Amino acid sequence: MTARRGILLAGGANTRLYPATLATPKSLLPVYDKPLIYYSLSVLMLAGIRDILVITTPQTQDAHRRLFGDGKRWGMQFSYIVQDEPRGIADAFIIGADFVDGAPSALVLADNIYYGAGLAGQLIAASNTKAGATVFACHVPSPERFGVVEFNNAGQAISLEEKPEKPKSSYAITGCYFYDESVCDVAANLKPSARGELEITDLNRIYLQRNTLNVQTLGRGMAWFDTGTPDSLAAAADFVRVVQNQQNLMIACPEEVAWRNGWMDNSMLTACTDDLKKTPYGCYLRTILSS
Ligand code: G1P
Repeated sequence: MTARRGILLAGGANTRLYPATLATPKSLLPVYDKPLIYYSLSVLMLAGIRDILVITTPQTQDAHRRLFGDGKRWGMQFSYIVQDEPRGIADAFIIGADFVDGAPSALVLADNIYYGAGLAGQLIAASNTKAGATVFACHVPSPERFGVVEFNNAGQAISLEEKPEKPKSSYAITGCYFYDESVCDVAANLKPSARGELEITDLNRIYLQRNTLNVQTLGRGMAWFDTGTPDSLAAAADFVRVVQNQQNLMIACPEEVAWRNGWMDNSMLTACTDDLKKTPYGCYLRTILSS
């Protein structure tokens, strides 16, 4: 199988404007000790994906390039493309079609955060699934804010709706999606929704109708944050602070994931600590080197 490609959607439809984002792209706002986008990037990396396309708005591409560069220092490869209008999440597979180039792929929204034991295993299983699509559903208090999946008594997904007024379940489809080689063709045939966007839910519904949509539930021990509101962004930062300080292990440290994946050797990791000298983040990187 050709190596799976990863897309990070850091612009357009999933960027809600806070006053803070007038100056700093939302995906680069800090969530406790690191940029928000590190969390979604780590999800792709935990799935073993090292070839990444970052989709940004025209205004924010330079800032993302400054953060990641070409990815070589992490043993990865980063490319960049602009989504000039917020045409919807599924548009990622139209503007990203050349990058995907007929390979299997995964897309993560840059404002989603995942954490929990077993997450890496679920991601690797999704990445190893050759046919169809895999998405992740999570029990939430306000399903009407999300794409919602309905299950039958046997636990099989039977419907998907985008931000329904009357949700048929409390399970939201989260912002991490794995697809087979056909996704760009499916996306190319989508029509814009009433809100004028190419909906990821419409794309997933086509896989559901083909009987090739695998909906994995994130269990009770798993935390998922869509940082779409100032409150959820603050809640995510609190969560990361409490869990990290309790364990002295970092959530979503890309350098650590790259090193543990064997994409960086010790000297590459040491070089990464240089820029971060005297910061807690840099100290942490040095600790894992000597552990
Ligand atoms: C998007 C998707 C929605 C999904 C959510 C997850 O919503 O359209 O289906 O549940 O991301 O974060 P949006 O970010 O456009 O509100």
